[in-house]
Amino acid sequence: MDMPDSPASSWVIDDRLKRLVREAQRVSVLTGAGISAESGIPTFRGDEGLWKQFRPEELASMDGFLANPRIVWEWYRFRRDVIGGAQPNDGHLALARWESLIPEFTLITQNVDGLHTRAGNRNLIELHGNLWRDRCLECGRTVEASEEVISGQAELPECNCGGRLRPDVVWFGEMLPEDEWRRADEAASLCDLFLAVGTSAVVHPAAGLPRLAKTRGAVLVEINPEATPLSGWADYTLFGPAGQVLPELLELVGT
Ligand code: OAD
Repeated sequence: MDMPDSPASSWVIDDRLKRLVREAQRVSVLTGAGISAESGIPTFRGDEGLWKQFRPEELASMDGFLANPRIVWEWYRFRRDVIGGAQPNDGHLALARWESLIPEFTLITQNVDGLHTRAGNRNLIELHGNLWRDRCLECGRTVEASEEVISGQAELPECNCGGRLRPDVVWFGEMLPEDEWRRADEAASLCDLFLAVGTSAVVHPAAGLPRLAKTRGAVLVEINPEATPLSGWADYTLFGPAGQVLPELLELVGT
């Protein structure tokens, strides 16, 4: 795998990229946990990542949930506490503003934290679900976390139908929601400019979207302080934090 060096916080927006950003009318963006890092939300991989301290097979799989729903709910409530206290950062806000400035802007996220919606993006595809929603294992109905009713002796949230509720997020081994995936595939296929922001680009199928965009003719720009499997073949890798690089790109839009 071609992994170029990633000097911390060093990026150059050259004249060609400036022109591409100014002129792009159809922009699609894929975000990962890195965009929320500057809001104080831990990422999954890397030295400080959540998957260094916690076991995904216990906390983010159907088998783990069936074996110990209480632990899984405890983990998701802990994450709601952390994320509930966080605010969208300059990276999220730049993407919301960008959407308001050009005709076609699609934001595809792997994040379940809801910060893109809070920042103001509306044409948003949440590929991995949303932490603030539950889904019934029996009837499939979705319920906002704020409407959760905890009943019975198990102290686990239940649906009106009596079925068990689970967090409405995609777990390991599960398919992505069909409609969201179709829209993401289309947005990657039909854009002029594709940004991959704050993702380690190792979790498929989301990690395949940047390559799809590039093969369909988009210019691919990666924004990440570290090198990833995308860095070797992206048109540009801007090695820096999303909260600084995105506002700098945004300044060019519409100028
Ligand atoms: P990862 O934790 O794998 O990767 C986060 C990326 O963000 C890394 O490449 C970091 O270098 C980068 N990063 C850190 N700080 C940054 C900053 N300030 N600005 C920009 N980038 C920064 O997170 P994801 O790629 O989102 O899946 O992980 C993908 C999926 O794996 C998640 O959606 C989750 C996880 O298991 C599910 O839960 C289904």
